[in-house]
Amino acid sequence: MSLLPLLTQRFAAALAAVGAPDAQPLVQVAGRPEFGDYQMNGVMGAAKALKRNPRELAQQVIGAVDLAGVAASLEIAGPGFINIRLDDGFLARRVETALADGHLGVERLPKQQVMVEYSSVNLAKEMHVGHLRSTIIGDALARVQAFVGMDVTRQNHVGDWGTQFGMLVAYLVETQREGHADLELTDLEGFYRKAKGRFDEDAAFADRARDYVVKLQGGDAEVNALWRQFVETSLSHCDAVYRKLGVLLDHGDVRGESFYNADLPVIVDELRAQGLLTEDQGAQVVFLDEFKNKEGEPAAYIIQKKDGGYLYATTDLGAIRFRVRTLGLDRCLYVVDARQALHFQQLFTLARKAGFAPAGVALEHIAFGTMMGEDGKPFKTRSGDTVKLIELLEEAEERAFALVSEKNPTLDEATRREIANAVGIGAVKYADLSKNRTSDYIFNWDTMLAFEGNTAPYLQYAYTRVKSIFRKVGEWDRSAPVTIAEPAEHALALELARLADVVHQLARDSQPHFLCAYLYGVATAFSRFYEACPVIQDGQADASRLQLCDLTARTMATGLDLLGIKVLEAM
Ligand code: ARG
Repeated sequence: MSLLPLLTQRFAAALAAVGAPDAQPLVQVAGRPEFGDYQMNGVMGAAKALKRNPRELAQQVIGAVDLAGVAASLEIAGPGFINIRLDDGFLARRVETALADGHLGVERLPKQQVMVEYSSVNLAKEMHVGHLRSTIIGDALARVQAFVGMDVTRQNHVGDWGTQFGMLVAYLVETQREGHADLELTDLEGFYRKAKGRFDEDAAFADRARDYVVKLQGGDAEVNALWRQFVETSLSHCDAVYRKLGVLLDHGDVRGESFYNADLPVIVDELRAQGLLTEDQGAQVVFLDEFKNKEGEPAAYIIQKKDGGYLYATTDLGAIRFRVRTLGLDRCLYVVDARQALHFQQLFTLARKAGFAPAGVALEHIAFGTMMGEDGKPFKTRSGDTVKLIELLEEAEERAFALVSEKNPTLDEATRREIANAVGIGAVKYADLSKNRTSDYIFNWDTMLAFEGNTAPYLQYAYTRVKSIFRKVGEWDRSAPVTIAEPAEHALALELARLADVVHQLARDSQPHFLCAYLYGVATAFSRFYEACPVIQDGQADASRLQLCDLTARTMATGLDLLGIKVLEAM
């Protein structure tokens, strides 16, 4: 069992033994060294409920708790906190177990079918920075879910349907006739702009575009083939970005909006059969009592427009129904911009009402804030255009290449390119993942690429420093026992032993910044340890300390891999 549940369980038993069976133990990592390693904060609440003196109750809890071989000391602090210091031998055994286990001592959680929906770009245009956060965060969450033992389904809910595609097909036909379609398609952004220009200026073109939409949705084979050609081209642009980013998404994960097209009339029928649908000004809507509009009346959730067209929401209902009934998912994580929060609240509420998602299936909107420029406004180019994602990533690599070349001019170019890819892309990802995802954040090249502070380059570099120890040592005894005596050894072993708690928490609450903070803490504890406790002395390596170094390296590599960030053996 990992540390937090272990301590929580033992204190829960102790609280029950002293007459407070309902009290919550509230065990936390201690904020400061003088508070010990952990703190139990549940006594005050229990004392209040029992109308007893908290310090006296704390004394009784200490007498009752079974932490033999786990804690070295338990002390009462302040009004009734219990400061816990873990036993050196206990931590040493934890380190040994984690080293022997191959999964670093992180237990698998009960298996569930978990979906992570992420990236979900609109294929009409090229990927831009607005798609970065979903792609990065979603990929990290999918990796974490797999690591803790879930069956993971990745879904890329691409926008590949709707009226825009009529316009794009019309332009595709035109450029193919004129023989420059392939060239035009290399720049999707430009392709879209030109198609839009034609649509706005030429009434005949606009009519053709509208006609294509009708034919497309009606299943016309020829128009569908053209549409497919456009969609495939656009997806191959996404692939280039995914490959550069090193995210796990591939074509098999794409299930776009078009996939649910045939289900949409069925959704309307099912909602009608359940008496949920009302006609409002010609449109089919559901009134949801849980949500009020400005007038304080139930908000209308539109399912089908007056002209028979369906909406974003209708497709999402189709997707939930499919995900639950056909994919058999237990938990669905939607990694989508926070600005869609209301849409998801209403969607989930309606999906429950309509029985598309029974209560046992978790539906979670994993919301994130906006990526801002230095000016505090949504990130744009100097001229105010949206930034193409591929160009942003290329710039990250270029900047990292310049930094690496400056630090290590003697390395050959291919090696410097490889380092630049890991550092540049790692920096962009880490800058994003290390912020609380629900807030907006400012994108800044200099801070994310700094070799100091809570950044990817710092952690990647710290990792290579640990690995360099092993290059000096050569062969060493991987089964050597671990002994912990020095405070810096204790502090490092404690950090390493916390990995399972941190990863389990991340699997539950989908907040990667806690894992980032943890890895930074590991790197910091390692530097203190390395300064205070010689690993190699007079040409002789300390086997126990080497074990701590090994677990540090493996913990950092695993943690960064869960975030989708590469490590290098040297840089
Ligand atoms: N394609 C949408 C957009 O770019 C995001 C889709 C989010 N996922 C969903 N199931 N609605 O805004």
